[in-house]
Amino acid sequence: MDKMERYFDDMYGKTKGRRFSEEPRPNVRLIPSAQKRRKGLTALEIGAGEGQNLIYLSKHGYVCTATDISSQALIRARKYAAEKGIKLATAKLDIRRESISGRYDCIIMALVLHNLQTEERYGAIKKIMKATRKNGINFISFYTERNGKKEMNLEPKLSFLGKDLEGSITKIYRQKGWKIIELRRYNSIMKNKEPCKITTVIARKIGS
Ligand SMILES: C[S@@+](CC[C@H](N)C(=O)[O-])C[C@H]1O[C@@H](n2cnc3c(N)ncnc32)[C@H](O)[C@@H]1O
Repeated sequence: MDKMERYFDDMYGKTKGRRFSEEPRPNVRLIPSAQKRRKGLTALEIGAGEGQNLIYLSKHGYVCTATDISSQALIRARKYAAEKGIKLATAKLDIRRESISGRYDCIIMALVLHNLQTEERYGAIKKIMKATRKNGINFISFYTERNGKKEMNLEPKLSFLGKDLEGSITKIYRQKGWKIIELRRYNSIMKNKEPCKITTVIARKIGS
């Protein structure tokens, strides 16, 4: 088993109760209004964790698929969705190594990039762009600051965010003709009580 996969399987396996909030990440609430036709739209999440973002979107008419590197995360996502009476497809996927099959109207990658190396980050973004239908959207969120520091070294080891990630990501989308429809920041608190800042980019695919 890969180091990263083991890390997350252990994390979810050892945590009693929920690891994350039952509520979706705050800016996920912007998604339904960013897409006019809602019923029957498809949403895929990369690194979906316990599935709270997709459970929220399912309630707004999206047909959702949760993917994660960790099977333990997906067990949790299925359990929490079932408790709410929500149908949630799940599939194990390591975005560093595997490609995405199918095309989706909305792809979310929330708070996953800090677990990837710089070159893997751009590879992951390219994969989600390619798997997005025309007029579909990508939702990416990432830490830009933690405990007052603009760079951070989290566990597992790879976690290091460059200061210019926000600009780099919007540039990739603009270069490919996508439209940035939201660029928002919010303050949050980590599980260990450290304050952090999170940025969300929502981009719409205009071309084919
Ligand atoms: C901080 S959690 C975020 C979970 C969820 N997106 C949310 O907003 O609460 C990061 C998630 O990314 C997953 N992850 C880490 N590396 C991954 C990879 N290479 N491919 C897919 N998922 C990954 C982890 O297992 C974990 O569930």
